[in-house]
Amino acid sequence: MDCEGLAKQWLSAAFEAVVPGCGGGKVVPSKDSRFGDWQCNDAMGIAKRAGRNPREVAQAVISALPLPDVLEKAEVAGPGFINLTLSRTALAAGVTALATDGCLGVPQVGAGEKVVIDYSSPNVAKPMHIGHIRSTVIGNAIDRILRALGYEVIADNHLGDWGTQFGILIMGYRHFLSDEERANLTVELLEKVYVRSYNATKEDPAWLDRCREELVRLQAGDAENLAVWKRFIEISLKEFGRIYDRLDVHFDLYRGESFYQPLLGPTVELLKEKGLATQSEGAWIVDMKDEGLEVAIVRKRDGGFNYTTTDIATVRSRVEAFSPARIIYVTDERQQLHFRQFFAICDKLGLCGKTRLQHVWFGLMRLPDATFSTRQGNVIKLETLLDEAAARARTIVDESHPDWPEAERAALAEAIGIGAIKYADLSHDPATMIIFTWDKALALDGNSGPYLQYANARLNSLLDKYRETVGAEPSEQTLSLGSDAEKALALHLLQYPNAVQRAGELCKPSVLADYLYQLSQLYSSFYQSSPVLKAEPAVRDSRIRLCDAVSKVLRGGLTLLGIPTPERI
Ligand code: ARG
Repeated sequence: MDCEGLAKQWLSAAFEAVVPGCGGGKVVPSKDSRFGDWQCNDAMGIAKRAGRNPREVAQAVISALPLPDVLEKAEVAGPGFINLTLSRTALAAGVTALATDGCLGVPQVGAGEKVVIDYSSPNVAKPMHIGHIRSTVIGNAIDRILRALGYEVIADNHLGDWGTQFGILIMGYRHFLSDEERANLTVELLEKVYVRSYNATKEDPAWLDRCREELVRLQAGDAENLAVWKRFIEISLKEFGRIYDRLDVHFDLYRGESFYQPLLGPTVELLKEKGLATQSEGAWIVDMKDEGLEVAIVRKRDGGFNYTTTDIATVRSRVEAFSPARIIYVTDERQQLHFRQFFAICDKLGLCGKTRLQHVWFGLMRLPDATFSTRQGNVIKLETLLDEAAARARTIVDESHPDWPEAERAALAEAIGIGAIKYADLSHDPATMIIFTWDKALALDGNSGPYLQYANARLNSLLDKYRETVGAEPSEQTLSLGSDAEKALALHLLQYPNAVQRAGELCKPSVLADYLYQLSQLYSSFYQSSPVLKAEPAVRDSRIRLCDAVSKVLRGGLTLLGIPTPERI
């Protein structure tokens, strides 16, 4: 067990010995090194409940602690705080064990548990816009973090590939495109003809009728319309795939809304059977007064099903196919009501069994005006945003490395651009709105993706230089912690498993981003105060071992966020 775990165990045992039945105490990292490395604040509460003096209880706990391999010092402070100082030997051993472990100490708390994550889920025949970036980037980071915690993750892209829009789209496709355009179809063209056809439905009732007919034919399985619809999906997936490749995002499944079509009728029937769906003005609705929510429509007046019906059917299908412990949905905040409604309906239907449904929502990402000049209003395509990021990063790369080969500069600019966009998103609590600015996203000296990538690349080159000049492997050196900066860095390294675990539990990659930013700041103060390669050999070797551990954790953490880590910058 790591030394923090040991200290926790000892402290709990000591509390039990002093106040039997009290349930033991917890340790948390100290915010200020004057109060030791870890502290426990539970003596006050426990003493109060037992009608005893808190300082006396704290002192008795300390006397009962088995010392001193791990702890160098244990003291009572103030009204009964217990401050613990770790022995440097134990701390060094903890860091070495963490850096040597393939999982970097991340506990496999999810082993044996299946989780479905539904994220990104764009709509077919519409370009992914910047609204989809957060679902894609946050969802993918949660996906990676949960896998690192040992969960068996099924990443499912719930494409919007079914619905009334396809009648309108088929009409637009047939009437507003040239043969050549149809042969070289793009999502942009599809969107254009969709808008034109949609506008025509507003002006011309006959057009609207024809769109409806095409939809009915599609729904009835008409071969010609099905073939066109499949083409829309194929073209869209090709374009989405290009973006996913750039973002290094991969799904296990692409089960779009259309996959669940056969289940929609039976789902409404089930709702009726259980007396949950009632008819109202020709539509079928579920009353949600008990939940304090608006009624949910599950079958429209025209007989069509909707988003809610599809999501209920999707839960049924996923529970049946995978019996996951949890299904996580990552969408923007505007869909909160929808999720509350259909979660409650699934609950009433008893569909979930052991499966927990969880909506992780995020605030919108806004761009300050004039960030982009776009003729399509303020709908900014995701691809345009990524291109712009790479182009801006390219200017920085060209300035610092005019001599590098073209391909390497292009690859680096892409990695920095993508890193900047992803980190700008992930470093904020998902539940907040973000105002994205290029200066902040691409800053090389602030809390930004490029700053962390740069710290990682500098560590790489330091480690390489050590290998070259000393002719030895950093990871084979012995760590012994000297200065306070070294100790602070080591203590923070030991918090890595905890940061990953909390980020996973809360579904907040920002917890891990904050951790990594702090790590790079502690590293930078260590590096400024403590020469590495120029130090005398014993100190140099120990320090490089510490740098090696920082490098592993930084790279590991960035990878869990999905941020590329170029070797050199
Ligand atoms: N297609 C939807 C959109 O673009 C997101 C779908 C989210 N997933 C779900 N199961 N409802 O807004």
